[in-house]
Amino acid sequence: MTIDEYKQLLAKRLNPQRYKHSLCVADEALRLAEKYGGDKDKCYLAGLLHDITKNAPKDEHLQLFRDFGIILSSVEANAQKLWHAMSGSLYVRHKLGINDDEIITAIRYHTTARAGMTLTDKILYLADFTSADRDYDDVDVMRRLVDISMDEALKYALSYSIVDLVNKGKPIHPDTLEAYNEICL
Ligand SMILES: [Fe+2]
Ligand SMILES: [Fe+2]
Repeated sequence: MTIDEYKQLLAKRLNPQRYKHSLCVADEALRLAEKYGGDKDKCYLAGLLHDITKNAPKDEHLQLFRDFGIILSSVEANAQKLWHAMSGSLYVRHKLGINDDEIITAIRYHTTARAGMTLTDKILYLADFTSADRDYDDVDVMRRLVDISMDEALKYALSYSIVDLVNKGKPIHPDTLEAYNEICL
């Protein structure tokens, strides 16, 4: 499929706001790839497709998990916000036939992060925080940090996410803790 065909598919699958977000994350991922020597095509495509199942009904996520043998942990089962990263990576690999592990894992871990992130993983994770459409309290800090150091930005973003979850009384996915611990050592 061409980039235009992916965009047409996204426009059908996502609400207008989420579609715009996807275009903005793709642009930001491309910018970060240029700045930090990442693979521009892969980062752009991962950015474009990262939220492809974000607006999918619950059943579509569960069907993908069933079809491809994914068993949710208790933290995952209770946090539907995490599902689209898992189902999105399955959709991109199995429905779109994109077999590039760099793109697939970047999408798979774009919500939780993980220990041992690749450059593409980091670029997508951070582009999701700093894309042009984003608006949250610390977005200016994040945008400044991401232009100085990917790892400093990653540490800040992980801390921000963990503190936010704790304040809301929500569980922390082990992948997020492992990512945070690794970056603090
Ligand atoms: Fe997402
Ligand atoms: Fe996103």
